[in-house]
Formats: sequence, C-alpha cells, structure tokens
Amino acid sequence: MFAPNYNKMCMQIFNKNIELRAFLDSQTVHNSTIGFVPTMGALHEGHLALMQRSLLENEVTVVSIFVNPTQFNNPEDLAKYPRTLEADVAKMKALNKNIIVYAPSVEDIYEGKTTAASFDFDGLEHQMEGKFRPGHFDGVGTIVKRLFEIVCPTNAYFGEKDFQQLQIVKKLVAKNQLPVTIVACPIHRESNGLAMSSRNSRLTASERNEAAIIYKILNQAKEKFQTQEVDLVEEWVKKEFEKHPLFELEYFVIAEESTLLPITFKEKARNCRAFIAVFVNNIRLIDTIPFN
Ligand code: PAF
Repeated sequence: MFAPNYNKMCMQIFNKNIELRAFLDSQTVHNSTIGFVPTMGALHEGHLALMQRSLLENEVTVVSIFVNPTQFNNPEDLAKYPRTLEADVAKMKALNKNIIVYAPSVEDIYEGKTTAASFDFDGLEHQMEGKFRPGHFDGVGTIVKRLFEIVCPTNAYFGEKDFQQLQIVKKLVAKNQLPVTIVACPIHRESNGLAMSSRNSRLTASERNEAAIIYKILNQAKEKFQTQEVDLVEEWVKKEFEKHPLFELEYFVIAEESTLLPITFKEKARNCRAFIAVFVNNIRLIDTIPFN
C-alpha cells in the first residue's frame, strides 16, 4: 500500500491551490486515495472525527479551512463567523501531522469574481435552510465544486448535522458525474446533547447549557410522533419554544429524507426526519434527528 513520504516533516499548510495541487501530485501515485474534509474552521470534535475517518480510509487526507463568503446571506453572520486558524492547526497537529491543510484566501478560490454560480438541485435547495437563507446552497455548491476540482478527492466526508447540505452535495456529485464518493458521518454531540457546531463557540457557558433543550425537544417530539399527527407535533414544538424566551424558533419541519419535502401525514414506508433551526441570542443553531 502506498504511504506518503512526508511523515517525518512538519505539517504541510498551503494557501495557494497551485502549490497544494503540485504537492499532491508529487506525493500521490496513480490509484492512491485522497480523503477530503472541507471545513470553515473553528474546528471541534465533530470535524476531528471526520478527519479520523478519512485518515483511516485513505492514504492521504486533505482538510480545507475556508470561510466561504458566497454561502452567507447575512453579512453580520459572515463577519462574526469564528476564525481560529492557529488553534485549528494545533488541533490537527495533535490528531495527525500527516494531515495536509489547505487554507486559501478568497482570491485563491474565486480569482477576482466572488460570486456563486446558480444550481438546480431538483428542489432540495428550496426547503428549510434554502427558504431562510436565500442563495445559501448556490454558495455551498460553488465552493464544494471548486474545492473538489482543486483537491480531486476519492472520498469526501460530510457531517449529518447539515443533512440538507449532505443531500445537496450528493446531488451535485450525481448531476455533474463527479468522481468522488460522499461519506456521511454521524452528528457529534456535547455531553448535554447539543449538536457540535463551530457556532457554539459564540455561546456563553450558560447559553450552551440551556441549548441542550433543542435536542431534548427533538427527542420528545419524536416520542409524540409515534402516536400523534404531524401538525400536532409541530404545534407542540412551537409552544415548547415559546416557553423559553432565550430561544427563537425559526423552523421545525418533519420532512422526507431523500426529497426533503415536508410531510403532512405519516406513512410507514418512507424515512423521515425532523429539522430545526433556532436562534439563541442571535446565534443560529441547527439540528436534525431521524424520526423512523
Ligand atoms: O459545512 C461547512 O462547513 C461548509 O458549508 C462547507 C461544506 C465547508 C462549504 O463551505
């Protein structure tokens, strides 16, 4: 089996796609597998688990750290998005020094034209996040396609917390016949159940504690879903959040997993899951759990 020959060197960090590509070409031989973990940094254990899986399953692992401006519909959200490159590199070094890091500038990715292309994801893009963050999935499609062109991964690792993004990336790959396998990885949670997210670092300790309620309500809604109709479960979730002034519910939707279309009645044969977006003091958190 091919093993990279840069084991004893320091961690490789590239800011320019041309240099990354040249390095990958020099280190890999025909048929060696490249695992890729795209991130926007502010790394947490969920990201590290994706990297660990990639390291196990591939000869080379590349991690990108890039806060992609075209997927933010809200300029304040973009400005406040945590940027912690030094700490991120330290975390990756502690995990495995063989990880290859790509931390480009906006110019290196967009080459003077920082705009998103327009994509048709067969309607997946119009639900949930797409409704509340107009243009978001055009930005995601643009950056993921661009990163795939640069890195040419064999396998790319995405977390299920962004389940809609995961389905959209699979659609992007299928529609463009991209030669990459998308690997879905389970959500990592804090000990109180809060789904790990880079945005959690913006919460105070007490907000982080209280945000456990999101996962708790999702699980209670799942229980209710066994015996109650969809609209009653949705109504119950809305009322629960009204009791908690710290939280502002943006949406709670029970949707079919493959089409992401909201369901209005229960049907055993289809897989569905609950999707939620909640603001805690202007910080937007999302979560999802399967309902059957
Ligand atoms: O999930 C994310 O962190 C981002 O949407 C991604 C996939 C890195 C694209 O910017």
